[in-house]
Amino acid sequence: MINIIGTGSCLPKKSFSNTDLEKIMDTNDEWITTRTGIKTRHMLTDDETIEDLAYESAKRALEDSGKTTSDIGLVIVACFTPTHLCPNVACYIKMKLGLENAIAFDMNSACSGFIYASYIAKALLLQNPEHKNAIVVGAESLSSIINDEDRGTFVLFGDGAGAAVFSSDEGLELKDDFIKNYDDVDGSIKIKSPNKHNKLSNVPDNSVQFHMNGANVFKFATGVIDELIKKINAEQSAWFIPHQANTRIIDYATKKLGIDNEKFYINIDKYGNTSAASVIIALDEFLREGKTKKDEEIALLAFGGGLTAAAMKLKVGGKYS
Ligand code: ACO
Repeated sequence: MINIIGTGSCLPKKSFSNTDLEKIMDTNDEWITTRTGIKTRHMLTDDETIEDLAYESAKRALEDSGKTTSDIGLVIVACFTPTHLCPNVACYIKMKLGLENAIAFDMNSACSGFIYASYIAKALLLQNPEHKNAIVVGAESLSSIINDEDRGTFVLFGDGAGAAVFSSDEGLELKDDFIKNYDDVDGSIKIKSPNKHNKLSNVPDNSVQFHMNGANVFKFATGVIDELIKKINAEQSAWFIPHQANTRIIDYATKKLGIDNEKFYINIDKYGNTSAASVIIALDEFLREGKTKKDEEIALLAFGGGLTAAAMKLKVGGKYS
């Protein structure tokens, strides 16, 4: 059995309100609040990097777990907005925490990234008990790639990082899980890597471009939440931690499934959509409220670029009881 035994999260120190955004683009608090539920979002400033946030969240999760650095054999980071493509964020965490025994790598499944990474960590720990314990991180700095002249996307996203320690010790037991990719012929979400001009191949010099067809993603998300809940048999779960993309998507799902809104943990108002970090930041905050009871089930639900979707059911035990 694999369990979550500690969590942590870290946000950039500066937060920006909808009114702050009004100063740089043609938008307003009323539009953003009613269309998305977002009031503020944190964004990296000059003296912070996404690697710093990822490291800090991992450090907090490790402290929360009671494990030491020598107990960690695996670090997986879900992130598609690192400062550098190489070395990756996981190697940075390994170096700064001094995790001598750990293998460390990044992966990209957009907003579903944390649950995909959890799925891989669980499988690796079960197959290779010598890794002992894993740190799984979701970290993202969408503000570094989104065009601040595109009001349709810029207002939706924020930066942040969250982490969990996975172990065979008692805690939140990872029960059913499900990951899936969907065809995306319309290119609902496309993030183009930078190409550097070179004299031989004549590749044009492009900066990173972020494109999202919000309406397509909205349609996909409202349809897929239902499927995710059924796939992990979570209809009767006590708690739901959804990807924080838009409160309207969550409202739609709760009405359709007849699930009490109060069971869904929402913090999008404070942080916006932090992509791969969203589910784990929400889980960390939710656990700190201390509401969970022994044997309750918590469903984690996510969807995003790819298109990807992922779900994981946790059963409450150990210190979370
Ligand atoms: N401020 C004011 N007006 C705006 C803004 C803004 N920031 N952005 C768009 N508008 C305008 C549009 O121009 C349009 O005006 P028009 O009717 O005059 O043309 C009007 O508002 C309506 O725009 P819509 O796009 O129809 O708004 P909609 O109700 O569809 O909401 C939204 C847009 C919030 C993006 C919604 O479609 C959504 O949430 N989609 C899902 C996004 C998502 O979940 N992404 C997650 C994955 S991200 C990842 O994986 C990286």
